[in-house]
Amino acid sequence: MKKLFAVLGDPIAHSMSPAMHNDLFAHYRLEAEYLPFQVQKENLKDAVKGLKALGAAGFNVTVPHKSAILPFLDEIDELALSIGAVNTVVNRSGKLVGYNTDGLGFIKGLETFLPQLANKKALVIGAGGAARAIYFSLAQLDCLTIDLANRTVQKAEELIRDCPFTNASRAFSLDEAAAKLGDYDLLIQTTSIGMHPNSTEQPLRLDRLGNKAVVCDIIYNPLYTQFLQQAKQRGATVQNGLEMFVYQGALAFEKWTGIFPDIQRMKTNVLQQLRRTLNVNR
Ligand code: ATR
Repeated sequence: MKKLFAVLGDPIAHSMSPAMHNDLFAHYRLEAEYLPFQVQKENLKDAVKGLKALGAAGFNVTVPHKSAILPFLDEIDELALSIGAVNTVVNRSGKLVGYNTDGLGFIKGLETFLPQLANKKALVIGAGGAARAIYFSLAQLDCLTIDLANRTVQKAEELIRDCPFTNASRAFSLDEAAAKLGDYDLLIQTTSIGMHPNSTEQPLRLDRLGNKAVVCDIIYNPLYTQFLQQAKQRGATVQNGLEMFVYQGALAFEKWTGIFPDIQRMKTNVLQQLRRTLNVNR
């Protein structure tokens, strides 16, 4: 019998996960199907119960359910619990176990550009859900300095305080951070600023950026945000959000199947989907 996989979100129509995972199932000749389900907040509990009752082998959870799902799972991995958000669920003999592969997916993608993270100085821009997953996952590595910059400095301070891993992070406003950019080896843009259709916006000025910096943006529509384009013009190495998206999916796929999938294949699939459905600006 075919194994069932799914993604729960609202909205969900534009999710690229179903085609990406179904392509992998076909490629690895696995009898499985991955379906998108639009689930409203008030129906999340029933949807999770339903997937469990149907014997779904696993599923992803996306906006706005990543935190709300925690009480409906049987077990939660330690990192996901500290982040307070789950994006991947595995059905282990009838028990639903929640994980967060967003932050680790980001790190895996980053390591292809910057294999040595030790002793680097990083600045995370933003203090929302995505920043939390990335910041906690990086802090867990315990080998680099990470500061946070956010419009609301208090939220960045709270995030640093919430983190269970040792850190000596400082919180800055966006303007304060812009003035210190030369101090950082690595910039990670985690807000939605610059995302289509607001693609002319950017979170902070880059005139102090060093030309040896690595600059990441978790946005992938447009593929190269204004922020990344400017960073590139200043000589920085840039990485777009395609990496994080693909690697979070690869880590989920590995948890479900035991196979770490072909990343290049996944990227090609997602790029094809982006070209077909979104206004991609290369
Ligand atoms: P997500 O879960 O996708 O990370 P979120 O939790 O809504 O989204 O967080 C959005 C992040 O983008 C926050 O850091 C937010 O800053 P505030 O904490 O000050 O709200 C930031 N953000 C969103 N719109 C912004 C804007 N126009 N200018 C500056 N920061 C913005």
